[in-house]
Amino acid sequence: MSVRHPLIVAAEPAEIAAKPQPPAPIWWQGGSLACGPRGLTIGGAAVVDWVAQHQTPLYIYDRARIDEHLHTLRTALTQTGKQFSIYYAIKANRFEPLLAHLRHTGLVGIDACSPREVQLALDAGFTADQISVTASALADRDLAAFVRHGAHCNLDSADGVRRYARLAPAGTAIGLRLDPETQLGYGDATKLNYSGGKLGLAVEDLMEVAQLAQSLGLVVDTLHLHLGWGIRSNDVDAMGQALGQIADFARQLPTVTVLNVGGGLGGRLQPDDHPLPPAQWAALLAAAFADLPITIACEPGTLLVSHAGLLVTQVTSTFVKKGQHWAGVDAGLGVNVYAAHYAAPLSVIHVERPLQGAVHRWHIAGHINEAADVMARNVQAGDCQNGDLLAFFPAGAYGSSMASDHCLRGQFSELLV
Ligand SMILES: Cc1ncc(COP(=O)(O)O)c(C=O)c1O
Repeated sequence: MSVRHPLIVAAEPAEIAAKPQPPAPIWWQGGSLACGPRGLTIGGAAVVDWVAQHQTPLYIYDRARIDEHLHTLRTALTQTGKQFSIYYAIKANRFEPLLAHLRHTGLVGIDACSPREVQLALDAGFTADQISVTASALADRDLAAFVRHGAHCNLDSADGVRRYARLAPAGTAIGLRLDPETQLGYGDATKLNYSGGKLGLAVEDLMEVAQLAQSLGLVVDTLHLHLGWGIRSNDVDAMGQALGQIADFARQLPTVTVLNVGGGLGGRLQPDDHPLPPAQWAALLAAAFADLPITIACEPGTLLVSHAGLLVTQVTSTFVKKGQHWAGVDAGLGVNVYAAHYAAPLSVIHVERPLQGAVHRWHIAGHINEAADVMARNVQAGDCQNGDLLAFFPAGAYGSSMASDHCLRGQFSELLV
């Protein structure tokens, strides 16, 4: 084999003339994540330093980024000219330091969907009047707990209203949740479809259930609508229609003072995604509710925390099978179900060499003994070797909060930085 000495390789004139160009930023750069001399950083600190102090799999959340997202949302809602209340969807991430931080801002309440979530919110210092419950398949013991704590409930069946009325004092205010009857948001997976299933009252039933609630001594002060997950820019027509419908109901129900539009906003999961920007979302709300003297409530989970978080794992094994390159990591669907359950794409970033291209495309195998446990496919995550660190992004929402101990593989560390 002949080896050419680099000093005597003749460069083409065009190469000599070309100035070195900085590499184009990757779509996830900016925000929480950047690339420094020691690899990937989150919130300005090198991820390798956090890993030196904490065991992988390790979730890292960037507090400053959460604050930025909250600021963006508040700015958008202010533009509506309406009063507004933000209830953080605690189901997205219930890491206690994160809850304590949100509590400390004094800018949000909590959207809870179970008695234990309500209790956790109270333990974090939120007061009962800052907690809104929107939940499903509620038992009498769940309803009794909500009444005991004094949290406001959005109900979505005549049966739930009847049972709640037996437990709650006369004059208790409730909300009614409406089925949006339109599928919008990220992807086409039925798991992310919030219409036509178990959630929310059918449009044709809402007025009857409102009358039932009133006849039982409850006051319907809220109408609620959760449209979907990852609402996109091209969802505006469907969204406008659904908002128009809830506004019509509010015009017919004089006791309604709050329109709760749920969650659903988020960021990009892939470079060519077009999520609906909060300002545009707020403009749709302002248009749909223009004539109504109501407060807008919302329940963001993903928007506030998703892109503030990262899951760091270590490569434990590498192998080639039928020409396909696989890297196994020390995490799986027990710690993060995004890919396996929702088929939602996670970006994979080589922590030590985030900008290095890869010779091969890699599939990333989770460590749960299930065929579905593949964290990502066909990624260019540098050239993986055993012991390397791979980060999954975004991982601040529905990661740790959905962890299970399947195969006794549910352990992880968590940090707010
Ligand atoms: C009723 C309700 N509100 C709010 C949320 C939070 O949604 P997101 O994380 O999309 O903001 C959800 C998510 O499932 C929900 O079901």
